[in-house]
Amino acid sequence: MMNKQSTLFSAAAFLCLLLCLTKITTAQSPASSPAAAPPPAATPPAQLPASPSPTNVTKILEKAGHFNTFIHLLRSTQEDSHLLTLLNNSNNGATIFAPSDSAFSSLKSGTLNSLSDEAKSELVKFHVVPTFLSSAQFQTVSNPIATEAGSGGRVSFNLTAYPDSVSITTGLTNASIAGNVYADDQLAVYKVDKVLLPVDIFTAKPPAPAPAPTAEKPKKKKGSPAPEEEATPVVQVNTSAAADAGISAVWVTAAAFALGVALFAPAI
Ligand SMILES: *[C@@H]1O[C@H](CO)[C@@H](O)[C@H](O)[C@H]1NC(C)=O
Ligand SMILES: *[C@@H]1O[C@H](CO)[C@@H](O)[C@H](O)[C@H]1NC(C)=O
Ligand SMILES: *[C@@H]1O[C@H](CO)[C@@H](O)[C@H](O)[C@H]1NC(C)=O
Ligand SMILES: *[C@@H]1O[C@H](CO)[C@@H](O)[C@H](O)[C@H]1NC(C)=O
Repeated sequence: MMNKQSTLFSAAAFLCLLLCLTKITTAQSPASSPAAAPPPAATPPAQLPASPSPTNVTKILEKAGHFNTFIHLLRSTQEDSHLLTLLNNSNNGATIFAPSDSAFSSLKSGTLNSLSDEAKSELVKFHVVPTFLSSAQFQTVSNPIATEAGSGGRVSFNLTAYPDSVSITTGLTNASIAGNVYADDQLAVYKVDKVLLPVDIFTAKPPAPAPAPTAEKPKKKKGSPAPEEEATPVVQVNTSAAADAGISAVWVTAAAFALGVALFAPAI
């Protein structure tokens, strides 16, 4: 009788000790990590190399003149600010085939007005290649050329360099490059004599159009909360300690109950 009780008691005590040790181990880890974090005051001042402001395409076209319709479209579709971001964030640069005002006026009347905002945006993007192409590279570029509107036959065009001219074919439009407007080491702007009409907008869609895959990358989760808030780590410790205390209380109650059962069960 006594022997059985003491065995049960020992077992319960051992269980209790085991739980306590586990609690101590787990309770220590959240408390120690905020303390190990580098002090916020030690953050050095920004020492990034001064980057030149990204090239303003609208400004370049304004300066060149006779691109008013294209500038208007760049603005109304927000492609101008998209280009700023593209040029700022990409190492590939960009190439713009800008149709002159006379190119727009030679379009069949009502062509632009018949387009939805979405189609206007696609039309503008079709004139932007998300890679820097120098005129020397025209000789070696491989067709078809993907545009900001996408890749694939319906939103790409072909470019062919001849000894004294460069032609662009979309499948609907045959255009020529009518001049160099601008070039630095990441942006090239060429004047084209026609508005490049993509097959995707101006011909009927195929019966089962494949949905364009979104190239969106999963956003990386930010780390722990901002370290500059002095109170944050203290609050964290308190919260986790309180949570641990709550869990411990549950275990202690459970252990006490088990002990009680062990002690009184034989008596019943
Ligand atoms: C780009 O240039 C245009 C015309 O000069 C100006 O209206 C616009 O604010 C500029 N954009 C930026 C981001 O500097
Ligand atoms: C350019 O990129 C840098 C770093 O990627 C960023 O800090 C800056 O705000 C960007 N500038 C513009 C005008 O988008
Ligand atoms: C563009 O070039 C590719 C490859 O040479 C060819 O398959 C395609 O038919 C061309 N498209 C047009 C519109 O000329
Ligand atoms: C474009 O050029 C090709 C080849 O020279 C020709 O077959 C086609 O009819 C032209 N298309 C237009 C719209 O001018």
